[in-house]
Amino acid sequence: MIKLADGVVVELPTSEETGFQVTVDQLDAAVTERTKMLLFVSPSNPSGAVYPPHQVEAIGRWAAERGIWVLTDEIYEHLTYGDAVFSSMPAAVPEIADRCIVVNGVAKTYAMTGWRVGWMIGPADLIKVASSLQSHATSNVANVSQAAALAAIAGDLSAVHEMRTAFDRRRRLMHKLLNEMPGVVSYEPEGAFYCFPSFKGVLGRSIRGHQVDSAQRLAEVILDEAKVAIVPGEGFGAPGYARLSYALGDDDIEEGLSRIAALLSE
Ligand SMILES: Cc1ncc(COP(=O)(O)O)c(C=O)c1O
Repeated sequence: MIKLADGVVVELPTSEETGFQVTVDQLDAAVTERTKMLLFVSPSNPSGAVYPPHQVEAIGRWAAERGIWVLTDEIYEHLTYGDAVFSSMPAAVPEIADRCIVVNGVAKTYAMTGWRVGWMIGPADLIKVASSLQSHATSNVANVSQAAALAAIAGDLSAVHEMRTAFDRRRRLMHKLLNEMPGVVSYEPEGAFYCFPSFKGVLGRSIRGHQVDSAQRLAEVILDEAKVAIVPGEGFGAPGYARLSYALGDDDIEEGLSRIAALLSE
């Protein structure tokens, strides 16, 4: 998903039919003279979309031609499946380098969520100011976390390759089970570890006496009645959708989805 920041964030249309990808034409329609920065996340949280290299390049050129800054979040760079390939925007379009910030971290590649270690790569003057702001706002990352992160990035990527094989299997399992639920349509994710199905076909009904008219309400009812946590799409600017993570065991995925399926088919 792409957002344009111009003081206020402008959210662009979401559609499973287009693989949740935004085109240069849509960017043209959304940009204003106040637009300063494009936030680009591929592989995407929450949709699992992965922009193909030619589209990453087209969007990078679009930003370069307009002098728009790019902040590209590459945290899921090693989690792509099938034919999808990750492409880094400043590598594809080197002319954006002096207006580009890359953010990344150890949370996904090294399964180190909770260690709170990430990094920014960008023009030296900007990094200097950001470091100063961060050191006053949150002080520094704990030394033990920094040492663990250094050990992780100094090692090889064999652990992430193993995880990717397991995620790929779980992705296909979750995608299949979701699409078997009446009224639920799930686009097959190509990266990260989320499915982002549309639940629009189950809205407008009553489930165990609760009127369910939004994904937000549906998530509450699923949590209360099936004891399964999903994240409603409203917070991502995508009403009617919800994010489900497949970063958990195969058995738990089957159990959780069978509870949701049973609840929705009552
Ligand atoms: C797109 C994206 N960027 C960055 C992060 C940051 O992870 P952490 O705060 O654990 O380093 C996440 C985690 O969910 C994410 O989805």
